[in-house]
Amino acid sequence: MKALVLSGGAGTRLRPFSYSMPKQLIPIVNKPVLVYVLEDIAALGVTEVAVIVGDRAAQITEALGDGSRFGVRVTTIHQDEPRGLAHCVELARPFLGDDDFVMYLGDNMLPDGITAIAEEFRSGRPAAQIVVHRVPDPRAFGVAELDAEGAVVALAEKPSRPRSDLALIGVYFFTSAIHEAVAAIEPSARGELEITDAIQWLLTHGHDVKAGEYGGYWKDTGKADDVLECNRHLLGMLRPRVEGDIDATSELIGPVVIESGARVVRSRIVGPAVIGAGTLVEDCRIGPDTSVARDCVLRATQLTDSIVMAGASITRVPGLHGSLIGRSANIGPSDHAEAHHRLVVGDHTHVEVAA
Ligand code: G1P
Repeated sequence: MKALVLSGGAGTRLRPFSYSMPKQLIPIVNKPVLVYVLEDIAALGVTEVAVIVGDRAAQITEALGDGSRFGVRVTTIHQDEPRGLAHCVELARPFLGDDDFVMYLGDNMLPDGITAIAEEFRSGRPAAQIVVHRVPDPRAFGVAELDAEGAVVALAEKPSRPRSDLALIGVYFFTSAIHEAVAAIEPSARGELEITDAIQWLLTHGHDVKAGEYGGYWKDTGKADDVLECNRHLLGMLRPRVEGDIDATSELIGPVVIESGARVVRSRIVGPAVIGAGTLVEDCRIGPDTSVARDCVLRATQLTDSIVMAGASITRVPGLHGSLIGRSANIGPSDHAEAHHRLVVGDHTHVEVAA
């Protein structure tokens, strides 16, 4: 079995981050979503992985290397613009040949693993094995309708009136039968070749389509709030580890990770929380539910339920909560007048100021 990871896409719901980085590299507990995806694929024993990339290929290559760190071999395939998940299958055809493959959306997190569903696919080899998960509002997803025996009856992409609460989540298993389906479908109303339509084509043409229900934790990390929620969830499983320096006046409470070269001075860190390598935390109260990446500087700041990305610095901000701070962002007191807020923020930035 091979793997196809989709890591193109515009990521408009994750602006401004997606202006400068592929959304699949957003860090959850200081590790890019895409790395969790590769680790999950490696756990299936799959070693040949193609990653579909858009115009930020260089950053993805930098994050993944040749894949050997994760026990896989990564090939990148360029997609000129987002033309749909089924278009990615078409692009990858030379790589996939006639092999079975798992297709994994590079912004989806399934931390409880997919080995059981992969086993089901490997033993039955249906033309397609979709992965479904019960969600309160399935209208933003592909939706599967199953009969009483659990067989897939029909699929719909983002239906306004969903016929079940079973959303298609970002993992699919296929045999080579999918290629005929992909070649047969037309672009949807949003102008994309939908994988949901290709699977529906398989159903209509008498192929076997199975659904495996994933009962674990799942998140499509396409929006800031979902990224933060996923971060909280994974921090909830944190195993404490201290490699950096903590001075005698600092206090660590609950599960906290202090990576090597980090320094914590006159601060209180409440877990779950992670302080990245080489980061300085001075006179701060950090956590819970917070991850700070490497090489940041945090001074006289209070920070909860947040993600701070590499190289950011925050000085004298007393109450930061639910925040996503981008790489090398600089937040601190005004150089001009104490009473002013001065903002130099990028396009589509979201700032909420305490009244
Ligand atoms: C895509 C699929 C959809 C699926 C979702 C899972 O939607 O088209 O069927 O439920 O991923 O994340 P998109 O993220 O392209 O809107």
